[in-house]
Amino acid sequence: MLVRLVGSLLRVALLSKLSLLELVWDRHFTIQWHMQKQEIFKPCDLVIYGALGDLSTRKLISSLYRLEKAGLIEDNTRITGVDLHAINTSEFIQTAQKSLLDFLNEEIDETVWKQFSDRLSYLQIDLTQMDQYKKLNTVIDPENRVLVNYFSVAPFLFKHICQGLDQSGILTKESKVVMEKPLGHDLKSSQDINDAFAEVFNEDQIFRIDHYLGKETVLNLLALRFANSIFTSNWDHNTIDSIQITVAEEIGIEGRWGYFDHTGQLRDMLQNHLLQILTFIAMEPPVNLEAKSIRREKIKVLEALRPITADNAAEKTIRGQYAAGFLNGAPVPGYLEEEGANPESTTESFVALRVDIDNWRWANVPFYLRTGKRMQNKRTEIVINFKQLAHNIFKDSFFVLPANKLVIHLQQQEGVEIHMLNKVPSIDGNIKLQKTKLDLSFSDTFKENTLFGGYERLILEAMRGNPTLFLSREEIEQAWIWVDSIQDAWKHQNEAPKPYPAGSWGPVASVALMARDGRDWEEE
Ligand code: BG6
Repeated sequence: MLVRLVGSLLRVALLSKLSLLELVWDRHFTIQWHMQKQEIFKPCDLVIYGALGDLSTRKLISSLYRLEKAGLIEDNTRITGVDLHAINTSEFIQTAQKSLLDFLNEEIDETVWKQFSDRLSYLQIDLTQMDQYKKLNTVIDPENRVLVNYFSVAPFLFKHICQGLDQSGILTKESKVVMEKPLGHDLKSSQDINDAFAEVFNEDQIFRIDHYLGKETVLNLLALRFANSIFTSNWDHNTIDSIQITVAEEIGIEGRWGYFDHTGQLRDMLQNHLLQILTFIAMEPPVNLEAKSIRREKIKVLEALRPITADNAAEKTIRGQYAAGFLNGAPVPGYLEEEGANPESTTESFVALRVDIDNWRWANVPFYLRTGKRMQNKRTEIVINFKQLAHNIFKDSFFVLPANKLVIHLQQQEGVEIHMLNKVPSIDGNIKLQKTKLDLSFSDTFKENTLFGGYERLILEAMRGNPTLFLSREEIEQAWIWVDSIQDAWKHQNEAPKPYPAGSWGPVASVALMARDGRDWEEE
């Protein structure tokens, strides 16, 4: 039991000796887990549907290679790529090698590559044709390996694959299905997808990915909040003034205009990644680290989100769309000038929101969320602004004492900073204060540790059958209820998104959203 718990969040960290684990678990747990290693690892048949697609090419193949390199893939595990194109296994292996050359960002180790490529095979299957699923029988071995089906395809194929797998009779109670967002476009479509899965799989066989939950720094939020008493006791409306969450991206649409224009930044980033970060920051302490305990607390936060409706959307939301601008000194086109663009599109590439959480802990503590494409730099960051002190005895230094801040850099330059005031050393008889930072940079502190990416961790956890880092149906549907209300309010408003130059921090209106409350965004 205890061992499952350890495995839940931190097994990759353990194997790679990541120190996040050391913050939370003592030696006793570590030893117990190692004793159970044999029992936990089981060989799998990992089948990737959409193996020649964007996600597989950019992320999955290189993540699997890195797991191979770290010795984390069971010897007898096999990986099968499935797609519509008529290629054979050796051509698939060449494609996989090209993916590594393009996206691995490190040299390919020949021995590791040999071992990895020996696991690969390819099947050409038209996923809409039920009779073609029997081809899977030529590669999978349900008696000796657990079938893990990774759906890296457009959602319209989800139902076909579920039916195809069901009818082919290859599924067992141990089989798993791993699916990628978008899990729907709204509550209704998300329910349809979940219903299609539920016809064939039990909930404990379903692994819904939000890759932010695989990020080391997102998981570290649990350690930061629940393993450090300075934060456990200072984490509510008594001490915190407001919270900001920024997920800024430098990239634009990257050839995905068709998908993105239909989706927009609210659905693409906020419904999932930002709300996940928000739930980690806002949830009550879970009873333990098991999936059901954590999910229960996250759902409570989602249920407590104050609805944004047509009545308050104008004060609480900003929609933006990037215009041409400059990034890193080079000119970049606007959203409407991207390849394949519809010049009339009113889809948002930027969103800023004021979010209120109606529960005891967060009464009158606004959460400001913003996310956008083509922003000044890539930055995922949480800023916890503490309250100002009621009385200031250091008026010589500051007429108004700056409040403390906790800044958590989730990506890039991962780390945690505390902004505080210190006396400037001097002997002149005065006490002069200066703003300073306590700075814990992860790359400096954990130099020796391999930092694994979100996909590596999540693929591994799915193969192990550990649900902790995956989303429950209820969680996703609750998030859609809240987001649908914003989407409806925007429809009702019927306003064009506010333009912002590529390479900026979004529309000026997003500054005004904060300024109205007497606050401002944390900038570098
Ligand atoms: C994906 C979105 O879920 O997350 C993309 O669909 C976005 O539009 C990406 O670029 C960002 O992920 P990360 O890990 O680079 O922050």
